[in-house]
Amino acid sequence: MLRRAPVRLFSRDTLHGHTKQWLQRQSKDRWVARAHEQEYRSRSAYKLKQLDTKFSFLKKNGVISNDLGCFAGGWSQVALQRTGVGQGRGTGAVIGVDKVRMEPLGQHQFVLGDVTEPATLKQVQSPCAREARRRGAVRHGPQDVRAQDG
Ligand SMILES: C[S@@+](CC[C@H](N)C(=O)[O-])C[C@H]1O[C@@H](n2cnc3c(N)ncnc32)[C@H](O)[C@@H]1O
Repeated sequence: MLRRAPVRLFSRDTLHGHTKQWLQRQSKDRWVARAHEQEYRSRSAYKLKQLDTKFSFLKKNGVISNDLGCFAGGWSQVALQRTGVGQGRGTGAVIGVDKVRMEPLGQHQFVLGDVTEPATLKQVQSPCAREARRRGAVRHGPQDVRAQDG
C-alpha cells in the first residue's frame, strides 16, 4: 500500500516564532490532526470551509480571491478547491501574500511581502488586474474576495 508523506506545517529549522507550548497544544488539537489527514496545511482551512458553506462566496468561475497573510496555505488550498482554479477549472485566480515564504501550491500565485507596504500591494494588484482583463471584467473591481485571517 502507498503511504502518503505527512504534511509538514513547519520547516525543520524554525518554529516560525511559536513557543514549544503552542506546538504541544497543536499536537493535541483534533482540527490539526484532521488537517494532517486531509492534507491541509493548517487547521484554519476548516474555518474558511465553514464560512463558505454558510455564505457561498467562493463560487466557481470568475472569482479572484486574495488571501492576505496566507502562510501556511490552508485558506488558499480551500480557495483553490472551491473556485475550481486548483483543478484547472474555472476562470478565476487565487493570489496569496505573506511576509513568510510559503511552499508553492499548484495554480496558486504567491507574493512575498508585507501587505502594509505599497510595493507589496502593487505586486498583488498586478496579477489581479491581469486576470480581470483576461476575463473582461473591466467594470468591476479587480478582486471578488479578499480574505484575511488574523
Ligand atoms: C493566522 S496566519 C494565516 C493562516 C492562513 N490563513 C492559513 O490558512 O494557513 C496569519 C499570517 O499572516 C501573516 N501576516 C501578518 N501580518 C502580515 C503583514 N503585514 N503582511 C503579510 N503577512 C502578514 C503572518 O505571517 C501569518 O503567516
